[in-house]
This record gives sequence, C-alpha cells and structure tokens, in this order.
Amino acid sequence: MPERTHEGWVGVFDSGVGGISILQHLVHELPHEDYVFFGDSAHAPYGEKTDEEVLELSTAAVEGLIAEGCKAVVIACNTATSVAAPTLRAAHPDYPIIGVEPALKPATLAPHHRRILVMATPITLRLDKYHKLAETWGSDSEVLSVPCPGLAARIEKGNLDAPDLTELVRGLVGKYAGTIDSVVLGCTHYPFIKHTIREVLGDVPLYDAGEGTARELHRRLKEKGALNPKQEAGTVEFRSSKDTPAELDLYRWFFAKEA
Ligand code: DGL
Repeated sequence: MPERTHEGWVGVFDSGVGGISILQHLVHELPHEDYVFFGDSAHAPYGEKTDEEVLELSTAAVEGLIAEGCKAVVIACNTATSVAAPTLRAAHPDYPIIGVEPALKPATLAPHHRRILVMATPITLRLDKYHKLAETWGSDSEVLSVPCPGLAARIEKGNLDAPDLTELVRGLVGKYAGTIDSVVLGCTHYPFIKHTIREVLGDVPLYDAGEGTARELHRRLKEKGALNPKQEAGTVEFRSSKDTPAELDLYRWFFAKEA
C-alpha cells in the first residue's frame, strides 16, 4: 500500500472506472497530492438506478472516504453529483466536496457551436440540476440531450476497440452524425471512448468536465491552505467494491490509457 503523507489526501469517487478520466486531470493539475480512488463497480452503472439507490450508494461511498480522513472529496460522477452532492454538502458545510457536471458552459461559449449534442446517463439528464444548467447556458444554442443507457456499463468491461461498442454508440447517437457542431460528454466514463464517438459522429469538438474539475479542486485546496507542499510526485491508490485483482488491474489500465 502506498505511503500517504501527513499533508492529507484527496478521495475520488465514481460508480466505476469513469472517474479515472477525472483523476487523470487531477493528477496533471496537482501532481504532488496523494489520491485514493474508489470505484463502486460492484453496483455500476448508477445512471439507470432510482434516485434513492444512487443517493444511498453515493452517500455511503463519500461518507466512508471522509470518515477515513481525506481532506477533500471529488465526486467524479455526473450522476452521483446530481443526486447526492446537495445532501452531502449540507451534512459537511465547510468541507470541500467537488462535483462534476456536463461541460455545457464551455461548449456553448465556444464560437460557432450552435447545435450541441449532450450524451449522459438517463438520471443526469432527467434531474432539475441539468435542466437548470441547460437553461442557463443553452439559450443561444440548440441543445440535444440524449440519454445513453447501457453505455457506461459497456465501458466498465474494457475492451474499448471492440466492434460491439461502436455499434452501441451508433445506435444511441449515430443519427446525429454530420448535423452537430460539438458534443458534451456528460458522463465521466465517455472520455475513454472519444475515438469511437468521433468514428460515429465525425471530427467534432468534444467537451468533458476534467479540466474544470481539476481547477476547482486546486482552487478549493489553495483557499483552505491545504495544498500538499511536497516536491515529489504524489501517490495514487485504487480501490473497488468489486475487489478482485483483475478489477484493480482494469482500473490501472484505464489510468494508464489516454482519455
Ligand atoms: N460515470 C458516471 C457519470 O458521470 C456514471 C455512470 C453510471 O454509473 O451510470 O454519470
């Protein structure tokens, strides 16, 4: 088990492997921090469960990391953020709980991006949080919100170059090919299949929450005086509720892969 310093560590949580795409940005932005990533792969996907189930699972995961003593938590999951972040923040008012949301703001602010496709889980697109986001940022654009059931679950399995994955993406969003200006990847699993999404939808700009989330963690730790002052690289520890060596190897494979 890697040695974590007394300067504290950051907990990162997702329903499964998707949050590793956010973790990559965190490590790039704040390389001296120590991270523990927890993926709830035994219960993934979250995006097609009930709100109550997602609330219960997300609360247990985040409370577990906080109880263990992390100095900040990143909920690296759009679905869990939408459902559980308000409750968790109310329970820990002064504690940094950083969530993610579909990157509609940068997508709509980019010039000439008028027709924007948003891919996300059914829950993320159903909840008020997303409707408010779309109202705030989408008024000058045409926002096409497309739920993608089954996609996060398929990405969980790895083997990302297999033809069945391309066919799944084609079935979900293929009909928009050639008609859109950009795509918002509103689920943290999807950055791992950028190449497949481009294969189906063409070479359009893709927006995800990684950079914005990493900047926000940086800002919050700095504000609290909680940045790790060490000079050497921090550590990354992976944990999964599907606690098998094969699953943890899969997590490390995703971490090493360019998202
Ligand atoms: N990665 C998650 C998200 O960003 C959830 C995927 C799932 O478990 O359905 O929404």
